Amino acid sequence: MRTILVVDDETPILESLDMFLGEKGYRVITAATGADGEMKFRQHHPEVVMLDIRLPDKNGLDILKEILAAPNPPKVIMMTAFQDMETTIEAMKSGAYEYLNKPLDAGEIERTVDRAFRMSCLNGHSEIPEDVPPPTGVIIGKSPQMCEIFKTIGMLCRNQATVLIQGETGTGKELVARTIHQNSFFSDEPMITMDCSAIVETLLESELFGHSRGAFTGAVETKPGKIELAGRGTLFLDEVSELPIGLQSKFLGFLERKEYMRVGGHRIHKSRCRIISATNQDMAELVRRGRFREDLYYRLKVVSIFVPPLRDRIGDIPDLARHFLQKAARDHCTEARQFEDGVIDLLCAQPWIGNVRQLQNVIMAASLQSRGRRVLLEYIERELAAGPGRVLSGAIDFSLESSEQVHILKTLKHTQWHRSRAAELLGISLPTLRSKIQKYGLQPPKPYTMPMNDI
Ligand SMILES: Nc1ncnc2c1ncn2[C@@H]1O[C@H](COP(=O)(O)OP(=O)(O)OP(=O)(O)O)[C@@H](O)[C@H]1O
Ligand SMILES: [Mg+2]
Repeated sequence: MRTILVVDDETPILESLDMFLGEKGYRVITAATGADGEMKFRQHHPEVVMLDIRLPDKNGLDILKEILAAPNPPKVIMMTAFQDMETTIEAMKSGAYEYLNKPLDAGEIERTVDRAFRMSCLNGHSEIPEDVPPPTGVIIGKSPQMCEIFKTIGMLCRNQATVLIQGETGTGKELVARTIHQNSFFSDEPMITMDCSAIVETLLESELFGHSRGAFTGAVETKPGKIELAGRGTLFLDEVSELPIGLQSKFLGFLERKEYMRVGGHRIHKSRCRIISATNQDMAELVRRGRFREDLYYRLKVVSIFVPPLRDRIGDIPDLARHFLQKAARDHCTEARQFEDGVIDLLCAQPWIGNVRQLQNVIMAASLQSRGRRVLLEYIERELAAGPGRVLSGAIDFSLESSEQVHILKTLKHTQWHRSRAAELLGISLPTLRSKIQKYGLQPPKPYTMPMNDI
């Protein structure tokens, strides 16, 4: 009979899981402490274990590691009411099969347990590296969407799969990429970033693949490309949607074979780096419009992560705000340690078109103005009024900056947000346009939503 061990110190949870899973035809063994759980695990050899993280006598993560070290380990479903990034990543990294947040949902339990039993028949537990260092960059967030992202990051530490991170500007795509890298087998190797929109097209190819001496005028010596510099680490292609179409096919060839030649070179080089790319554009739409190769798009998004806009996870705002306040104190020696009443409510009510980056800027600027230990509501209001998305109340803004902003937006709309074309029409370089887009917090009109791929 299919046996499941449930370890949790809350009697109502134990009793209801016992009844619920019993009715579904499982043999349920329960334990209210870590020690009891370990003993019953050795006695009954369950195929699936549901394990609480916080137990009175032991840490669930330690029990997880012990259980998984046993021969023929079970599938372990972690449960917790205190979800945070480190524990979720740590649990997934240690080999947990799933991670459920309390309060538990009956439908989710049923599906997860059923899947876990099916999986336990299919394969054994995969080896987990012991020497992976703990994550250093911290992604703040407890929303269900962020928890899913933490789980995916945890799973990605076991492989070198190619990842595409999508989301609006300032949502934390680069931070997610860095965290994936830091949690990978090869975190000691470099993560090399290439901003596909910031480099002149002709240089891009040699930036990526490198060039040999004499390959073109000015190539006085052989230079390794970013792929080579990444070694076994990570190549992070930022703004990947801007990759010129000519280079897209060359890059596809590289992804297919993981081989490349330097510009002007004759020798084939092998690469073993992981490719993570990021974009704030709707890639599927670019593919539909023939601006981005469909085959390359699918190659890039073997694993796809969508980082939602901040307005869709307002529950994360209080923690983020406090985090940035502490960061300001650390980085700029500001005195403020708390927010005046009403600040958090005000922050939660904003549209945040510049997302987490804008929130960070507002908190930083407001805490720099604060003289005492509290950030006052009025400082926040002032910063919000000055930031992206400002509504000019009454008076017409005659400033040159305001006209520039309107004109750039108009041009971007005209080119349907094709930035290279807009830069051409405006008579400025692409990097200059990018910095102006950033400065004014300009955004494509429709936010898009994209489901996360199952990996
Ligand atoms: N969840 C988070 N927790 C803590 N800091 C965050 C979080 N999300 C974003 N940040 C911070 O916000 C800033 C913007 O994040 P990041 O550069 O990763 O965004 P992005 O999505 O790559 O933006 P862009 O599309 O403009 O390149 C960074 O300083 C980052 O550290
Ligand atoms: Mg970025």
